[in-house]
Amino acid sequence: MMTFDQFTHELSAIGQQSVLRFYPQLDQVGKDRLLTQLSSLNFQSLPELIETYVKGRYVLPLPADIKPITAYPQHPQTSQQKELYERAHARGLQLLREGKAAAFVVAGGQGTRLGYDGPKGEYPVTPVTDKPLFQAFAEQILAHSRIAGRVIPWYIMTSDANDAATQAFFAKHDFFGLRPEDVFFFQQGMMPAFSIDGKLLLSRKDSLALSPDGHGGSLRALKRSGALDDMKQRGVEHLCYFQIDNPIVHCIDPLFIGLHDLSNSEMSSKTISKAGPLEKVGNFCMGDQKLQVIEYSDLPEELAMQKNADGSLKFDAGSIGIHVLRASFVERLNEGGDLHLPWHRAEKKVACIDEAGNQIKPEKPNAVKLEQFVFDAIPLANNAIVYTTHRGEEFSPVKNAEGSDSPFTSRRDQVRRFARWLEAAGIHVARDAEGEIDAVIEISPLYAATAEQLKSRQPAIARINTGERVYFGHEGISHA
Ligand code: UD1
Repeated sequence: MMTFDQFTHELSAIGQQSVLRFYPQLDQVGKDRLLTQLSSLNFQSLPELIETYVKGRYVLPLPADIKPITAYPQHPQTSQQKELYERAHARGLQLLREGKAAAFVVAGGQGTRLGYDGPKGEYPVTPVTDKPLFQAFAEQILAHSRIAGRVIPWYIMTSDANDAATQAFFAKHDFFGLRPEDVFFFQQGMMPAFSIDGKLLLSRKDSLALSPDGHGGSLRALKRSGALDDMKQRGVEHLCYFQIDNPIVHCIDPLFIGLHDLSNSEMSSKTISKAGPLEKVGNFCMGDQKLQVIEYSDLPEELAMQKNADGSLKFDAGSIGIHVLRASFVERLNEGGDLHLPWHRAEKKVACIDEAGNQIKPEKPNAVKLEQFVFDAIPLANNAIVYTTHRGEEFSPVKNAEGSDSPFTSRRDQVRRFARWLEAAGIHVARDAEGEIDAVIEISPLYAATAEQLKSRQPAIARINTGERVYFGHEGISHA
């Protein structure tokens, strides 16, 4: 690490020396903390970043020509597609048997909207047994690796704020049945917040105001942490990316992995039909002939509202943060020493200290935060494809404490999904007068991870009655 004098020199050269203004007053721990944080910054790129994004307020221009996309349908529509889907499913299973696919969750975010203080993955979500998000995914990974007869490694991206707590949670729960050596934790990078006029902010005399660099930062952190090297050693070629907040994601999906691989796609995505023209999800679009995601806030309303002749939305393909990425693509994105993704600028309220060291709790945005988004890698990928899934089958995230995308709606949607699986297997499920499921049901992935697996298990139960709480666990069916 550079000495204090070297830092002073480097920071002065870029007009940022004021972050060292309290250094002489700090104790050794504080001095070390500040210098360690500073050493993680890229001084060469900072001036341009500040000029462009902070002071210059650069925003990625919208493509001139925005068109809807064509995605693979959920179920094959033609005999040719049927044949392709069969081959893709078989290919996905083969890749899993060969140990070539891994799970990858981004769990570095701060869960502020949910109002939960610890790592979001600790949050209890399942309807009968209250399993935390991490366990819901761990059991799926375990279930698929049992079928494949091969370990599926799990890469978990945390952040400075929740890494220790996340690792302690896994240790406390014996890694939910996974082997610790097959779970690879790594931290994402941190970005400093800037004042609106481009100065690095201090949160305390001995600390920069830092926050996670966005889920796009995962693609840098995979490289820097050695996770990509770990994959190389294990022979992993594909990463199944998902987000921490969606307990019903099929985090390992042989068909999706196979379609991605057979298409030679470097980054594939799942989409669902949007709940309405202005739903707050990203939109898959063709922009200047390239597949990309345009955030809901950036898609011009006039386009968002456009309809096809049959009344359906033209821009209906919502992005739900589910991808498969080739490890070689992530490697390529990091060529030349840094990640080639744009930054997104947001003005936020950031608690900090002023010139004299007094605490400031701002009432209006006083700072600029910069983040990278993983879906900005899509236009850089060769042969990127999109596959359609169904909302009820795969997307019901826990984002807000109440209302939409809340623990309540997610538990309800899990029960609805399990009920559909059971009904498809010929089991009667009690419904109330409105048709809503009138029981609480949970199926562990260790019992069945998909509707098809459930059906083939032929569960020894004919019906689920009003008011019952039924759990399908790896040891069998029980009433709670
Ligand atoms: C995101 C997408 C949106 C998509 C929706 C689906 C953005 C800007 N928007 O919205 O297009 O429809 O998900 O659920 O991403 N994370 C990190 N580190 C970070 C920031 C986030 O690991 O620095 C992780 C979170 O832990 C979470 C995921 O990324 O797993 C999503 O982050 P969040 O900020 O909640 O995204 P949304 O705004 O809900």
